[in-house]
Parts: sequence; structure tokens; C-alpha cells
Amino acid sequence: MRIAMIGTGYVGLVSGACFSDFGHDVVCVDKDESKIDALKRGIMPIYEPGLDRLVASNVRGGRLSFTTDLKAGVDGAEAIFIAVGTPSRRGDGHADLSYVFGAAREIAEALTGPAAIVTKSTVPVGTGDEVERILAEVRPDARAWVVSNPEFLREGAAIEDFKRPDRIVVGTENEEAAEIMREVYRPLYLNKAPLLFTSRRTAELTKYAANAFLATKITFINEIADLCEVVGADVQQVSRGIGLDNRIGSKFLHAGPGYGGSCFPKDTLALLKTAEDAETPLRIVESVVAVNDARKRAMGRKVIQALGGDARGAVVALLGLTFKPNTDDMRDAPSLSIVQALQDGGARVRGFDPEGIEQARPLMADVDFFDNPYAAAEGADAVVLVTEWDVLRALDLGRIARTMKQPILVDLRNIYPPQDLEAAGLKGYSIGRPL
Ligand code: UGA
Repeated sequence: MRIAMIGTGYVGLVSGACFSDFGHDVVCVDKDESKIDALKRGIMPIYEPGLDRLVASNVRGGRLSFTTDLKAGVDGAEAIFIAVGTPSRRGDGHADLSYVFGAAREIAEALTGPAAIVTKSTVPVGTGDEVERILAEVRPDARAWVVSNPEFLREGAAIEDFKRPDRIVVGTENEEAAEIMREVYRPLYLNKAPLLFTSRRTAELTKYAANAFLATKITFINEIADLCEVVGADVQQVSRGIGLDNRIGSKFLHAGPGYGGSCFPKDTLALLKTAEDAETPLRIVESVVAVNDARKRAMGRKVIQALGGDARGAVVALLGLTFKPNTDDMRDAPSLSIVQALQDGGARVRGFDPEGIEQARPLMADVDFFDNPYAAAEGADAVVLVTEWDVLRALDLGRIARTMKQPILVDLRNIYPPQDLEAAGLKGYSIGRPL
């Protein structure tokens, strides 16, 4: 089957590469010439484990190609995916759909045979209706159907998530479109991934509901962690104790510095806007957004408290800057708020990250960057573990303690048991645990 993927961002590039790996003939289209040129030379625009190899082998196999020519990409494609960005619109938090509608118009103009036009970008309820309206306006003659097929992959585990999804949600009520989508995902349902057919609006909302629920779960355990600290309980054990209940489930119950990334912050806000427009407020999600925003700032204050309440003149080394491990993505990373709070308090901040330094540099003024965690910690008054990268899981804690000015370590991801920190000679602080 021939597939066109419009937009080679995170979702588009991973989905395109994985579809080609399943044997489909995939053309990835993007307006950004330098990105397409780089991809043709095998250079990935993002850091995602395994993606470069997957792309290279499918390009070599002749199943995957890249172009800036949308018309050529769409020519003969039976499934045309829209995977362009939907950033938060400046000022009002609504999803900015101008790229989606722009792509829809160009696709409509370029359409050849019958095709499913599939939105994979996260789009608010009703976007498919608007894409359908554009299609009818531009090409009233076309045999094409607009489908919603949201993507649930996580950055850092994108290929695995795409190839072994818990479910695939397809929003269409048209049988011809459903048949195309069954063919697109045939290799996956051989892997027993349930293909869930819904109405288009239901599929669009399902994506937002999933992200809002996960953001809620994280925020819930983060607030329980705060309570644990005050009443002398251990959030790690509370998390395990509740997570073993199948109705709750153990995943996404890891307390930390607050969720970040390109999806949860943006999607929760966009969902709130949809709810507001529908005059059906989602009060739980409203609280989640507010609590998480406040939490990121509070993490900076937590470090200042560990320093005795005064950060003036202190040197603080942040280890792990990206919003989570295995990505170079800095969007809405908690480290950004922490740096701000520390600098506002008069501290000198240092940063280390295995992959994210280039992305972090323009976002973090007056931060000194180091290419290894030990150099960053040397002479520092406090070390803060912000992201649970594997390289930060097996630090030589004794070495860190010996070279620091003051041996204070704030572990915002609960990587180390408090007794290990103590044994290494560190004064340790963590999340939701008695000291
Ligand atoms: C998230 C969803 O998990 C994906 O299912 C979804 O497809 C994606 O958004 C999207 O909408 O495109 P992602 O943003 O890549 O994926 O990252 P997550 O692994 O979900 O992490 C999000 C944030 O939550 C990170 O800051 C992470 O550190 C935090 N988190 C996650 C916690 O603090 N605790 C946890 O237990 C889990």
C-alpha cells in the first residue's frame, strides 16, 4: 500500500518509518527543505533511539523516501496522513490548526485516486469536520474520506510504542475508509493490537482524554508525595501499594518534578479550551494544569530550602535537563522553571545533559554547561537530579560528594534510596520520602 505522511516531526517521522518497516511504500513530505535534505543524507532532526537505523534500512530497501513536493508524495497514495504540528496558539491556549488546514487544502488539490485522509496530529474535536469541509470545497469530485487516527507513542520509546501499541483508535463511519485503515494496520493487528473503530469525533476526543488522564495520574501522585513528606510516609511505597490494584495500575505513578514535554502541557490546555467552548468545564483537568505549573516552580524553592533557605552565591548543578530521558526535547521541561527559580534566588547554575545541551543552551541564559556529570558537580553547593537518564542512575556518589563544596544532593526523580546517599556522605533530599 502507498502511504503519504505529511509532516516529518516526531509523530510523522516515526510513523512513516515504522509503516515502511511493515512493508508499505511510504513517502514523507515536509516543507522544510533543510530537514528533508538532512533526512535524505540519513541525519535525523530529533534524537530517538533506533530511529536512524530504522530510517536507513527502509530507505535502502526502497520503501521510504523524503520529499518537499507534496503533490508528488500524494500522487497515488491510498492513505494520506496529516502529521503536522498543532502548537498552542499564542495568547489563548487553543490548538493552532493553521498547519493542519493548510496541509488539508494542499492534499485536496493534489488528490489523485480514492484515498483516506487521516489526521494523526492531535487535533480538537470537530477538526475532521473542518478538513472534510475543505475537501468538499476544493475537490467536490474527489473520492476521499477524512479519518481520525490519533497516535499514542511516547518520545524516547517511540518505535517500540508504535510497533506494539496497546490499541489503535480509528475514527470513521465510512466503510471504504475503514477498509483502507485495516490494510494500513494489518501488520499490527497480526500482533494482536486491538483496532478500535469509533466515530471521528470520539477518536479525536479519546486522544485528549488519554493524555489528560495520564497527566492527572502523575499530578495525583505528586500531590500525595507532598503529603508524604509532611506526614512522614514514603510515596514510592504508596505508589506500589495502590498501583498493584489492577483498577489503578502501576504505570505513571512515579512522583517527580511535574510533567513536561510537547504533549501533556499543550493537550491539557487545548482540552480545557474545548470544554470551555462547549460550556462543560473539566474541573479536574483545570486543577491538574494549575497544580503542575505551580509544582515546577516549587521544585526550585525545594532546592533553595536544601541550601538552607538562601541560594545567593551558591553554585547549583542540574543533572538531566530534557523533560524526560532518551530525548533531546526541552519543551516545557521542569528544568526550565527550576533554573529560573534558582537564578532568581541568586544562584549560579550549571547544567549537564547527555543529549539535550544544544537544545537547552538557547533556552537557559547564564547557565554553564558541562559534558559530564562529575565535572558539573565539582565545587558545587548542590547537585539536583532532574531527569532520570540511565547515565545518572549509576553515579559514583562518593566521588560526587568528595568534589562538591557542600555535599547536598536533591533527587527529584527518586533515583537513589536515601540510605545510599547517606552512605556516600551526601545530604540527600528526595520527593515524597522521609529523610
Ligand atoms: C505522552 C503520552 O505518554 C503518549 O501516550 C502520547 O502519545 C504523547 O504524550 C503525545 O501526545 O504525543 P510523552 O510526552 O512523550 O508522551 O512522554 P511521557 O513518557 O508520557 O512523559 C510525560 C511527562 O510526564 C514527562 O515529563 C515525565 O517525566 C512525566 N512523568 C511520566 C512523571 O513525572 N511520572 C510518571 O510516572 C510518568
